[in-house]
Amino acid sequence: MQPTLKSLSLALLLALAWPGLAQAETVAQLRSPDGRIEVQLDLNGEGRLAYRVLRDGKPVIKDSRLGFIFRNGRQLLRNLALENQVSRSFDQRWEQPWGERRQMREHYNELRASFVEKDQDHRRFDVVFRVFDDGVGFRYDVPKQPRLVEAQIVEELTEFALARPATAWWIPALEWNREEYLYHRTPLAEVAVVQTPLTLRTDDGLHLSIHEAALVDYAGMNLMRGGDGELRALLTPGSPAPVVRKTPFVTPWRTITLSERAGGLVESSLILNLNAPNTLGNVGWFTPAKYVGVWWSLHLDQESWATGPKHGATTENTKRYIDFAAENGFRGVLVEGWNLGWDGDWFANGWGFDFSKPTPDYDLPGLAKYALAKGVHLIGHHETACAVSHYERQMDAAFALFERLGIDAVKTGYVCDAGQIERQDAADGPVLREWHEGQWMSRHNLRVLEAAAKRHIAINSHEPIKDTGLRRTYPNWISREGARGMEFNAWGVPPNPPEHAVTLVFTRMLAGPMDYTPGIVSLTGRGGQEIQSTLARQLALYVALYSPIQMVADLPEHYARHPEAFRFIKDVAVDWDESKVLAGEVGEYVAIARKARGTPDWFIGALNDRHPRTLELKLDFLDAGKRYRAQIHRDGEGADWRGAARFRFVHEEKIVTRDDAVSLWLAGGGGAALRLLPLEKTASTQ
Ligand code: NOJ
Ligand code: CA
Repeated sequence: MQPTLKSLSLALLLALAWPGLAQAETVAQLRSPDGRIEVQLDLNGEGRLAYRVLRDGKPVIKDSRLGFIFRNGRQLLRNLALENQVSRSFDQRWEQPWGERRQMREHYNELRASFVEKDQDHRRFDVVFRVFDDGVGFRYDVPKQPRLVEAQIVEELTEFALARPATAWWIPALEWNREEYLYHRTPLAEVAVVQTPLTLRTDDGLHLSIHEAALVDYAGMNLMRGGDGELRALLTPGSPAPVVRKTPFVTPWRTITLSERAGGLVESSLILNLNAPNTLGNVGWFTPAKYVGVWWSLHLDQESWATGPKHGATTENTKRYIDFAAENGFRGVLVEGWNLGWDGDWFANGWGFDFSKPTPDYDLPGLAKYALAKGVHLIGHHETACAVSHYERQMDAAFALFERLGIDAVKTGYVCDAGQIERQDAADGPVLREWHEGQWMSRHNLRVLEAAAKRHIAINSHEPIKDTGLRRTYPNWISREGARGMEFNAWGVPPNPPEHAVTLVFTRMLAGPMDYTPGIVSLTGRGGQEIQSTLARQLALYVALYSPIQMVADLPEHYARHPEAFRFIKDVAVDWDESKVLAGEVGEYVAIARKARGTPDWFIGALNDRHPRTLELKLDFLDAGKRYRAQIHRDGEGADWRGAARFRFVHEEKIVTRDDAVSLWLAGGGGAALRLLPLEKTASTQ
């Protein structure tokens, strides 16, 4: 095609405005194993580096710059030359010790491109791209070098410039309430400063998730909108800079997951695949399980964390929960407010917490023994109230105590506003403030995991740093909060609306497991506040929101009133061989099928927003030649997320095969939960 006069004059104009641009040259490229995704790296005439991503030949991410701004040195982004490039292909299988899927395939093509400054400093860095069939990961790898001994990174100049208009689902970053917000759905052009994972759908229907993998010794990445579809990395603050690293170091992977189906984002293993393999060896000591506990009563304000007449963590009360767990086959019992110091305004008293001494009315060793005799395990709780250095000084002894008592899982907590983590390096030194998602906390979290792993203890962090798939490397990092959970239905203003959990599936859950704490069958929060959910939906949450530990969060007496619903909660699995999204649109509805690990049984969980709808779900994932008994728990006629209609619930059974489809009517704010059990005789032998 002949260049027109118009395009020539545009090129001339651009060349005058930005002298390097006209001479931009593609210096390296790479494709996904299936050839559909392509990454191209460009250097322009100024030696500035940019990448772009195409899918089926069409740009998804247009030219997006790469580089660094340092506090202790000149920026590193201009005057670069490509020194070397090496490609390789990788295709291996690995197994998750527990998870939403057992067999994993890590299949990518990799490009390592080495850049060096052409000026006198000759500083250098590599950019490593891995392109999978479902997306792209890239990281900077900065070698040891005389002119860059320590990098104080003020900004990583990484950009993600969307090539097409899109809708975004996002929560704000760097605001006071850490990660606990309702999601916004806006055009990309209205996004401000947001957290990752950020979910996008382009106007022509491609779904994207921008996130990071393997956040180790680095600040969490947020995204800030620039002009024209651009999103720029914005690192969580730290002092003297968000990130301080000696060379050599690598950054976390920056990730772009791509899928035509919304469900493809959920099924992707890209984040896990970009993390390093298990460093803990056999973690057979962690058992995926359900747990109950002294918890919802605290959020209802019927009992208190503090000692006194309402104290929840008493010996007698805990025995009641242990008995309830033993009778119903739940492995764990969480008890909060058990340790000395958790009194008065505990948000302000973190420096007084003692992580080895129980309150006088709580017989910790006696209860641990009582539980074990019944096949139940207490779950420890380490709320730090953000006095994190104080906790670090005690945590080894605290984990040792729990190990002696047979306590093999601990919930940690970091309740304080964002930016208010308290760090004190020396016992009499100043107290410095850090962010939950900053570099110092990324280190703290790994110190906790390593200390716990030595004692064969698994960690479930609340008010956590975001999940970036480190459960692959540290499989004792079993779950975390990191979003608005069920607790907001006790006291949140507003409580979680019907679309919240559906949106979580396609946003927060893309990062990893969440301890949402489902199963509030009473559907009522503090002071009678209605939970905006039907009864069937509470069951569906166990399947739809993955976690290897799931709380059976309501009070024992409430389950007694809903025996059919409770039956499902007892039966539902927590560890899976396979997971498939059968249907779904971001923030509207979702149906997920999961095969219980080591069994032929399948479960399905479906969640709905506030608009009633019917889903037709094909059962073609079932084994050929087998008949299955489907136990269906669904919204009853007239069910709705408001008023008494929340409790309209049907339990029915049907025989199905893989040739069938089930038609499920979901109420507004409703859901459905299915269990599919193969009958002994297969259809073919009848
Ligand atoms: C917030 C946690 O999310 C919640 O589960 C816990 O009960 C309180 N902090 C107290 O630690
Ligand atoms: Ca919380």
